[in-house]
Amino acid sequence: MSEYRTGMGWDVHRLAPGRPLILGGVAVPSELGLEGHSDADVLSHAITDALLGAAALGDIGMHFPDSDPRWAGADSLQFLRHALALASEQGYRLVNVDATVILERPKLKDYRTAIREKLAATLGLEVDRVSVKFKTAEGLGPVGEGRAAEAEAVVTVTRD
Ligand code: C5P
Ligand code: MG
Repeated sequence: MSEYRTGMGWDVHRLAPGRPLILGGVAVPSELGLEGHSDADVLSHAITDALLGAAALGDIGMHFPDSDPRWAGADSLQFLRHALALASEQGYRLVNVDATVILERPKLKDYRTAIREKLAATLGLEVDRVSVKFKTAEGLGPVGEGRAAEAEAVVTVTRD
């Protein structure tokens, strides 16, 4: 009997001028981008935490502390690859990813395919196992006021 496990992840980053908006490894044209020690890819961070969570391997800050200069400006896809490798070492195989990005603007739907393809390639999954959804916060709170972006992710892993 295979074992199935689920993990969840969440992240938030501030929006600021002069920063790139990178989501799932894809640069989205935008007046404001995400602030952070790494490339601040809020979506990749949420998925990384979900993956670590499914395998009960701690969280992203444990493996990639933001005090470590090695991760300054880092491509967050490497966090995803590392979390996948750690989960694989424990015998887990990724089944699917479902994620939501909450961002007031810009509209992201035209980037959905590119983001799903990039994440699927990074995680070694078929594209139809990677779902990315987008929501506004309807003007409410710091995300709704356009001051931040949030992401949530759920992953399922299995092992024999
Ligand atoms: O937040 P709301 O329900 O109004 O979003 C409606 C749709 O707009 C979403 O289902 C999504 O397809 C799209 N959207 C988007 N980019 C955003 C927020 C929402 O493409 N930043
Ligand atoms: Mg983050």
